[in-house]
Amino acid sequence: MVSRILMLLVVSSLLNLIHNGVAEGVTSAFIRSEWPSVDIPLDHQVFKVPNGYNAPQQVHITQGDYDGKAVIISWVTADEPGSSQVQYGLSEGKYDFNAKGTFKNYTFYDYKSGYIHECLIDGLEYDTKYYYEIGDADSTRKFWFQTPPGIDPDAPYKFGIIGDLGQTFNSLSTMEHYMQGGGQAVLFVGDLSYADRYKYNDVGVRWDSWGRFVEQSTAYQPWIWCAGNHEIEYMPYMGEATPFKSYLQRYPTPYAASKSSNPLWYAIRRASAHIIVLSSYSPFVKYTPQWRWLAEEFKRVDRKKTPWLIVLMHVPIYNSNEAHFMEGESMRVVYESWFVKYKVDVIFAGHVHAYERSYRISNIHYYVSIGDAYPVPDKSAPVYITVGDGGNQEGLAGRFRDPQPEYSAFREASYGHSTLEIKNRMHALYHWNRNDDGKKVATDSFILHNQYWGTSHRRRRRNLRRNISVLCDFKQAS
Ligand SMILES: *[C@@H]1O[C@H](CO)[C@@H](O)[C@H](O)[C@H]1NC(C)=O
Ligand SMILES: *[C@@H]1O[C@H](CO)[C@@H](O)[C@H](O)[C@H]1NC(C)=O
Ligand SMILES: [Fe+2]
Repeated sequence: MVSRILMLLVVSSLLNLIHNGVAEGVTSAFIRSEWPSVDIPLDHQVFKVPNGYNAPQQVHITQGDYDGKAVIISWVTADEPGSSQVQYGLSEGKYDFNAKGTFKNYTFYDYKSGYIHECLIDGLEYDTKYYYEIGDADSTRKFWFQTPPGIDPDAPYKFGIIGDLGQTFNSLSTMEHYMQGGGQAVLFVGDLSYADRYKYNDVGVRWDSWGRFVEQSTAYQPWIWCAGNHEIEYMPYMGEATPFKSYLQRYPTPYAASKSSNPLWYAIRRASAHIIVLSSYSPFVKYTPQWRWLAEEFKRVDRKKTPWLIVLMHVPIYNSNEAHFMEGESMRVVYESWFVKYKVDVIFAGHVHAYERSYRISNIHYYVSIGDAYPVPDKSAPVYITVGDGGNQEGLAGRFRDPQPEYSAFREASYGHSTLEIKNRMHALYHWNRNDDGKKVATDSFILHNQYWGTSHRRRRRNLRRNISVLCDFKQAS
């Protein structure tokens, strides 16, 4: 009898152990698809190949220099190389300038890419609308873009922030909502096409369809690219083991302009913002090229010229979702003290397919021996925002950790995108816009106070008050 009870006890505690072990393993490693989301079929009109023999497709632009006076224009021609030239000018159809680019092609398994053109146009005027035309003979196509205002501490500018976009109907909804919102450039936080969800030649095919899908925005305004894990495409089973191959062939960045040695990490300045792009999937620990470069880049930041200091990375450093929990720890340990030291305003990340915003917190006093490691309020720390909710085929990460940690200010597992509307050196309006089944609904929003001018302004105001009261005392006395 006693031994039966003992047996039962042993079995039930064993069962408990197994149950707990399994439950934890599954929740921490698996991304749940609460609302299964499938890719838009290839024959859908959003992927339509433009009419005409060898017509340029997948047109996209990005900033081409450090300060916003240059643009890199990229596109693909399918039938033959054709011209890599861009004609451009200040009015439609009247092109006073032209620039000559280059083209390349690559293979991925048996897939052969089209001819990928890349053309830098520089020496542009600030705050100016340019019209441009690409392609040959009867298959030319026309677009336009607007250059940003010059580097100025009070230059207003509206950025969109999109992550983990993919090519589903949810992705389409995110695109449509972003385009209605009047954003002037996109800060893209990684995971572009999700083509790596396919095998063999379909990988290349889905990169092409994604390029045609996003062209409605990317041909007209720069998207500032940051690489995610879906760009790695380490696929040795089909003989493809060069990381980031398709991404690097297709999406150039102006890395050399910020003295970076690698297109995966770089910085640009645009209007009143200094934007630093990091690579979560490239070496970043002390003494690596990315670490050395970032140390120098932070020194180049001049908050008197560009008050807004923004960092983009794919893997969030603060995340209270079950999905990808703690994946950002290694980068946090290496870089967080710099983010605080240089008073970064905001860090945008993706990867987790949900939305989350943190308070200003840091966890840099990490004493392993006494276990004192918990995020604490820190006025010099950035706000961390995860916008991995663009709408790809993996679905939403619907399970947040319970209870919500004190550092987490707002979190919701819905599709959407964010906007950051810089008003002047002092403040910016921030919005997270949930797609909400087709309607655009502003949800989380607040005024972001600049980390550099916000605090020095308070000091200035205090001084001013003190000086006035000194003045009053003086008047009364006299
Ligand atoms: C690039 O295109 C040329 C001309 O069509 C072709 O001969 C070559 O095999 C292609 N190279 C790759 C890497 O696909
Ligand atoms: C107030 O006075 C201090 C010196 O007492 C000066 O440094 C500061 O610039 C003044 N502030 C303003 C806003 O006038
Ligand atoms: Fe990701």
